[in-house]
Amino acid sequence: MDIWRIRGGARLEGECSVQGSKNASLPILAACLLCPGTVELRRVPRLRDVDAALQILEHLGCRVRREGDQVYIDASGVNGCEIPPALMERMRSSVIFMGALLARCGRARLSLPGGCRLGKRPIDLHLLALRRLGAEIEEEDGEIRCRPSKLRGASIRLPFPSVGATENALLAACGAEGETLIRGAAREPEIVALQDFLRALGARVEGAGTATLRVSGFSPRASARFRIPADRIAASTLLCACAGCGGKLCLKDCDPGHFSTVLHFLNQAGCVIIQKHDRVTLSSAGRLRAVGPVVTAPYPGFPTDAQPLLMAALLRAEGESVFRETIFENRYRQVPALRRLGGSVLLCGREARVRGVERLRGAALDATDLRGGAAMILAGLAAEGETLLRDEGHLARGYENFDACLRDLGADLSLKHEGDCHGIFVQSTQNHG
Ligand code: EPZ
Repeated sequence: MDIWRIRGGARLEGECSVQGSKNASLPILAACLLCPGTVELRRVPRLRDVDAALQILEHLGCRVRREGDQVYIDASGVNGCEIPPALMERMRSSVIFMGALLARCGRARLSLPGGCRLGKRPIDLHLLALRRLGAEIEEEDGEIRCRPSKLRGASIRLPFPSVGATENALLAACGAEGETLIRGAAREPEIVALQDFLRALGARVEGAGTATLRVSGFSPRASARFRIPADRIAASTLLCACAGCGGKLCLKDCDPGHFSTVLHFLNQAGCVIIQKHDRVTLSSAGRLRAVGPVVTAPYPGFPTDAQPLLMAALLRAEGESVFRETIFENRYRQVPALRRLGGSVLLCGREARVRGVERLRGAALDATDLRGGAAMILAGLAAEGETLLRDEGHLARGYENFDACLRDLGADLSLKHEGDCHGIFVQSTQNHG
């Protein structure tokens, strides 16, 4: 258990680099299975989900070595195509290994993946795409068996631009004979990163960033090097933190175009934003104006992952902000905690109405999921008094050195791991009711 102790009220000032992208790293790590030799990845964030992916690779017979933010994966000795439930359950992205294993070994055996509980998260679109490519898949009691099958290029139409299904389709298509067209594909920057990496491995892939992808062959290279792009949601998190607390923040080594919809609303809320090609500076007076409607949508729309973060920043804004969540059915899990801090949030189906309040006050909270937990930290930073957040490890799944990064910017907070925090939470829960 991790315990965050936050004393709110400080302005955030400073400059920092953005961590490597979690959601780009995970499919790229799965794609390493397609390389007959060694891959060198740079700017790989130290995260629990990344560790889980590295453990899956080791389990499948890869040799894995980390040096700072560099990771070396030697996939020459891959000798397995089964992933046990204990490894599958650790994150949602474990399902992406299905496409990679099919491309490498022509078969796979795994169970249903874990991940944040944001509502139903079926994998029907993943299976649809893989079956179109000729995979013979059976599902029974939560187990997925892809029998040895020869993959053939195909025309796939995804009825919804699922990020994960697009990644699985791309990976499996690299192991198929003939050309594959994927229509209705997701257009997220993480898909572009995966395409760039697959090209570095020797794949002929084009179209990433558009709704139609074409995979027309794969001539494996013996080795490859690749740098993971910046994490657009981690960048959005820091920007929303500064917007809500007030201050001035410069984020370096990122692509502001990847989170332009978040910048758009922060600007509408009254923040001053200056963008250069690989950096962005945000200045905030602290008290923002309401915005909306903020409607989440597949890229290039407003990211569902940033919805809880922007909501936290707007809790003290003047007026009423409206959010409409269209991607996940249960993505307002942060709301009860934000209310405990004094936020006024009304939920009605997929819509959330946030009426700005003068002040928030610290409380004892429990992190519910990765981005929801981050939103609670942001709200705690903007609240008066002390907030204690108990977290079963959600934040470490997606944020690298989050506490140190916020402290460097002037936040007053500490993070303790279970064992060195006995009694703190009980006392605080009593104080705050
Ligand atoms: C990715 O999840 C991200 N995860 C999520 O980030 C992100 O919220 C999501 O895309 C949307 O942007 C990773 O990249 C590891 P989807 P993914 O398939 O691939 C439905 C974070 O906090 N759907 O695009 O699981 C699904 O239920 C995480 O970093 C089906 O119905 O997202 C959801 O409603 C959380 N059938 C919608 O599509 C399927 O087969 C979007 O899911 C697949 C998805």
